[in-house]
Amino acid sequence: MNNQDKINELLSKREEARLGGGVKRLEKQHSQGKFTARERIDMLLDEGSFEEYDMFITHRCNNFGLEKTKFLGDGVITGRGTIDGRVVFIFSQDFTVFGGSLSETFAKKICKVMDQAMKVGAPIIGLNDSGGARIQEGVMSLAGYAEIFQRNIMASGVIPQISAIFGPCAGGAVYSPALTDVVIMSKDTSYMFVTGPKVTKTVTGEDITTENLGGASVHATKSGVAHFRADNEEEGIYLIRKTLEYLPQNNLEEPPITEYKGEQEREIDELNSIIPESTNTPYDVKDIIYKIVDDEEFLEFHRHYAKNIVVGFAKMDGMPIGIVANQPNFLAGVLDIKASKKAARFVRFCDAFNVPLVTFVDVPGFLPGSNQEHNGIILEGAKLLFAYGEATVPKITITLRKSYGGAHDVMSSKQLRGDLNYAWPTAEIAVMGEKGAIEILEGKNINNIEEKSKKLEYITQKEAEYRTKFANPYEAARFGFIDDVIEPRNTRIRIIKGLRALATKKEINPPKKHNNLPL
Ligand code: HXC
Repeated sequence: MNNQDKINELLSKREEARLGGGVKRLEKQHSQGKFTARERIDMLLDEGSFEEYDMFITHRCNNFGLEKTKFLGDGVITGRGTIDGRVVFIFSQDFTVFGGSLSETFAKKICKVMDQAMKVGAPIIGLNDSGGARIQEGVMSLAGYAEIFQRNIMASGVIPQISAIFGPCAGGAVYSPALTDVVIMSKDTSYMFVTGPKVTKTVTGEDITTENLGGASVHATKSGVAHFRADNEEEGIYLIRKTLEYLPQNNLEEPPITEYKGEQEREIDELNSIIPESTNTPYDVKDIIYKIVDDEEFLEFHRHYAKNIVVGFAKMDGMPIGIVANQPNFLAGVLDIKASKKAARFVRFCDAFNVPLVTFVDVPGFLPGSNQEHNGIILEGAKLLFAYGEATVPKITITLRKSYGGAHDVMSSKQLRGDLNYAWPTAEIAVMGEKGAIEILEGKNINNIEEKSKKLEYITQKEAEYRTKFANPYEAARFGFIDDVIEPRNTRIRIIKGLRALATKKEINPPKKHNNLPL
């Protein structure tokens, strides 16, 4: 073989590897409305930036005649590339090769890119489309999964980890995405479950479809496993790129600040009249968020899950921020189990990657009732409290309207090391609302009044007294729990100035092995 033959051999091997499981299987992938593993990489990375690793790897399994079938690359494409010029590491499971199932070598390829991502401090992105453990490989594939899980755990809070699910993701395989920071599922073509419909039927008798058991809609609305439900794979890819815009490469770097070309310090007059006159009338807190942030761009996480709290990324004068906001439009913005969990996870995600937190408060309290109590609102609420209290990133809180009871403390209050706590003149910061308070304080007196109209008159008068004393921001401001009461129209300016001033903030928690977050 002369040198040219050797080069031709290389080129033909590359060609073979690029064909994955072969033309027919690639066509089947397309016919199912899915892109191939390579097409997904091309769509995600900057053009021409992909550098592939381990293209010539094959499996080493001799069980069930598997030694007769080998595909170059063994079902997963791995390597590195750039997104908006920044280095990322990637693996993309190829369903056309043994259903994208995970073998010993397949796992080794993934571990190699994860290890390198950790060494250089760059995000790792996983595109999942797999039938799970390669059955012929037995415990080798189980070990392979565990190798990946261990790396997910070590990488958590060090480098951003993003998972997209573009096909099956079943059995223990679900736990790698679950350990990552962001999970994106494509609608109608992806699913995630620990046990599938057949086993579910055998064990429990429940008859359920794949989609209803673990489709994107289920995980985006009910379980909260998926942060995003993408309409299709293109949107899923877009969401990966978009998420990275707000994140640093690793936990030792700051999030990337971009030049904002709009009006930085603009007053927003509409905000002065955005809170309804009646204190119990709902409004959409997202209207406030969109008005305040740059270019009305808000990347909302968990949009369909626990809608009573809103979380997501935005920029202010080009500075990335994480927003947490109670949503009066849904369950009056009350804090319940799901909302607490959702917000706690987001707060910790932001804190891990140095993204400042801006919190908008309008919360009537925690949701009462046996359902909540029996299912652990105490522990779930404690998670959010813990998350805010341990966060050392700049924390700016704007109280828009209600901030009552324990929920007041939880929502980035001054005592949880809030750096700047502002309130609008419409804020009501108190132990509880007037109805509950007067019932407790005046119950006996009310009961002693026999005539109904006099009773009502007394209650109304006492409630009004209570509102005058407590349903305002000045009581809290009097003690310095609120740094300033601000005109709503100036909110954007005040936040931007605050973010600039706090950019050099240094706060360090005491050394420890790790905390004992109430799980
Ligand atoms: C080996 C597999 C495979 C697997 C699929 N294939 N899954 N090979 N191990 N786990 C192969 C098929 O033999 C077939 O090969 C090709 O991939 C495509 O599979 P099809 O069944 O034709 O595709 P489709 O009809 O689309 O069905 C996809 C599927 C189904 C629903 C994912 O293949 C399936 O149920 N697979 C098994 C899933 C599973 O039980 N996995 C183990 C889970 S337990 P050919 O040669 O025909 O193309 C697990 C434990 C992990 O993962 C624990 C971690 C801690």
